[in-house]
Parts: sequence; C-alpha cells; structure tokens
Amino acid sequence: MQELHDAPLAPLTTLRIGGPAARLVTATTDDEVVAVVRAADAAGEPLLVLGGGSNLVIGDAGFPGTVLRVATRGFELDGTRLTVAAGEVWTQVVDRAVLDHGLAGIEFLAGIPGSAGATPVQNVGAYGQEVADTITEVVVHDRRSGETLTVPAADCGFAYRHSRFKAEPDRYVVLRVVFELQDADGASTPVRYAEAARTLGVAQGERAELRAAREAVLKLRAGKGMVLDPEDHDSWSAGSFFTNPILTDAEHAAFLQRVAERLGADVEPPAYPAGEGLVKTSAAWLIDKAGFTKGYGSGPARLSGKHTLALTNRGDATAADLLALAREVRDGVASAFGVTLVNEPVMVGVEL
Ligand code: EPU
Repeated sequence: MQELHDAPLAPLTTLRIGGPAARLVTATTDDEVVAVVRAADAAGEPLLVLGGGSNLVIGDAGFPGTVLRVATRGFELDGTRLTVAAGEVWTQVVDRAVLDHGLAGIEFLAGIPGSAGATPVQNVGAYGQEVADTITEVVVHDRRSGETLTVPAADCGFAYRHSRFKAEPDRYVVLRVVFELQDADGASTPVRYAEAARTLGVAQGERAELRAAREAVLKLRAGKGMVLDPEDHDSWSAGSFFTNPILTDAEHAAFLQRVAERLGADVEPPAYPAGEGLVKTSAAWLIDKAGFTKGYGSGPARLSGKHTLALTNRGDATAADLLALAREVRDGVASAFGVTLVNEPVMVGVEL
C-alpha cells in the first residue's frame, strides 16, 4: 500500500483541478480498501474514495483527510457473467468484453472515462445503454455496519444517473461489480439512441455489429470531446457537467411557453419520455439557447468547443474559475427558461 502526504490531487482528476490531499493512500486489494476505510472511520477522519477522477470537482483547498485511491484489479468471466474489481479502468473493461470475448451489453458505454467501481454509483449511461441494464449485483463495504454486502440490482435503486450508493454518498464503498452480458453472435444489443442508429446505418431498435457499435460510439464521443485526450483541452472535463432536467407535465408546459416567447412558436426543444407524467429535456440545448454557445467564456475555464454540456479547463483553471462559469451558466439558463440545472459530477469541498 502506497502512502503520500500533501499530495496533489489535480493530476488524478480528468479536469486537472483541485488542491492537495493531506494523505493519499493507494490500495490494490479489497482487504486494503476495507482496512483504510475502517481506520479512517474509527479515527473519525474525513475520507474521500477516488476512482478514475472523471466525475469529480475538487476544491482549491484540497482535501483535509485521507484520499483513498482504489487501484484493485480483477476481470473474471464465467460464461456471460462478468465480475470486475472496482479499480479496473472502465474503457478497458468494455474493450475486453467486446473485443476479446464478443459479449454485448456494455458496448455503447465505450470510451467513458473513470473506474468500473464508479459506474453503479451514478448508473453511468450513454447512447441508449446504462449499467443498470446489465448489473446483477454490486459488492460493497457498508461503512455504517462495517460489513461487506452483496447488493442485488433490484436493491440498488437505479434511476437516471442515480442509485442508492449516490443517495448515501458516505456510506458505501464499491469493491466489485457483477454484470450479466449477452452472447448475441457478434451483434450488439438493440440500438436505442437515434444518433447511434444513424451512424451505424440501422433502424432504432435493430441490432448492429458489436464491434461496429463500439467504434461508432468512440467516434461520436470523440467528436464531442468526450474521450480523454491529453492534447485536447475540450476533454479536460468531468463529462456532462449538468444532468438533463426531468420536468413534470405541468413544468414542461410552462417551459414550452417560455421557449415560444423567447425563441418563437416553431422551436421544439428536445423531449424524451421519462416515466409517467415526466419529460426529460436537454441541458446542452438549454445552455446553447440561453446564449452560452460552444467555447463560451474568456478565462481559463470555458465551455467545450465541441459540446455545451462540458465545462473544461483550458490549462490552468482553478475550481473557483470553473464554479464561476458553472454558476453563470446555471443562472443564465434559469432566467431564460425557468429551469434550474443540477450538477452531475460530485463536488468535494465546493458547492455550486
Ligand atoms: N445540443 C446542443 N448543443 C450542443 C450539444 C448538444 O444544443 O453543444 C443538444 C442537441 O439538441 C442534442 C441534445 O443536446 O440533440 C442532446 O445532446 P447529446 O446527444 O450529446 O446528449 P446529452 O444529453 O447532452 C447525454 C449524457 C452523456 C452521454 C450522451 C450520449 C447526460 C447528463 N449526459 O448527453 O453522458 O454521453 O447523452 O448518450 O445524461 C456524462 O454523463 O458525463 C455524459 C457524457
């Protein structure tokens, strides 16, 4: 187990923002992870569990306690049942499942930065798949009881970018994730996302070729700056900075009224069904139409030049710079459309 003091955290995040950790510990086995967590909890010390650092905004003051870097490894396949250790790099998990084993179920989640253990926490999703579709159970350390638990998918509380683990952020540490994948003879799962179907040249609801699906997603993501590339500042982000707002039918009607007044009666904002009486609209669209277009900003923190939903670090941005931009965008969208955007990444020592 490696231990450092006053260790910079910015290089461990995809935004490359944030002050130092008082103590940074890297654990490579589940037992080490549990031991570090138990010791911090027994001492009443603050603890931050870090995976790939791709969904985190760490404040400029850093973290005053122990930061635990989960670097466990494990990829075990039993037929179509895949068990991965929390510290595995997610893109490599997808690549191995698709390219080495021809298994479908997570191919549309290719290119998503971060660790495998982080995926159930916010029910990572993209291009019509989310991990809730394939996860059968999550093995966690429960800091309240001090026990290791196997939580079946039905008890994970999965919803859009949400789970039981996100609802109680200081309670669970993910150790392993179990997926049930599909052997569909080289085919993908049915393509749900319109943009992906178009790129693959299949109708929505049809299957595509498995490897082609992975490649199409990587291409789409790269075009939006959503694949990590150290040379490309558009990818120095935490992915989508805001969740897509889910409105009740009444809120949606009021929103459409605002859109008509502001942009004209013929303008139709994106709308996707989100359950009984609920409509999901697009945060990227709201930001764009409120006047924050791609590349918006003049300081070291700006909107991505490829997607309005990503806030990016152009080189030496601080958390303060990034949050100033985030507040400007949130407040501008609220005053233009009456919809308040909510941050998607986890905030450490800062608030929006
Ligand atoms: N749009 C704009 N301007 C832009 C980009 C998009 O107006 O600069 C509008 C367009 O109307 C477009 C709509 O926004 O049709 C939706 O855009 P996109 O298809 O890129 O999807 P998104 O809703 O912005 C979500 C996820 C992404 C995921 C993509 C693809 C959330 C918060 N974000 O983005 O996930 O990759 O769909 O499935 O749900 C993440 O969570 O970090 C993330 C990157």
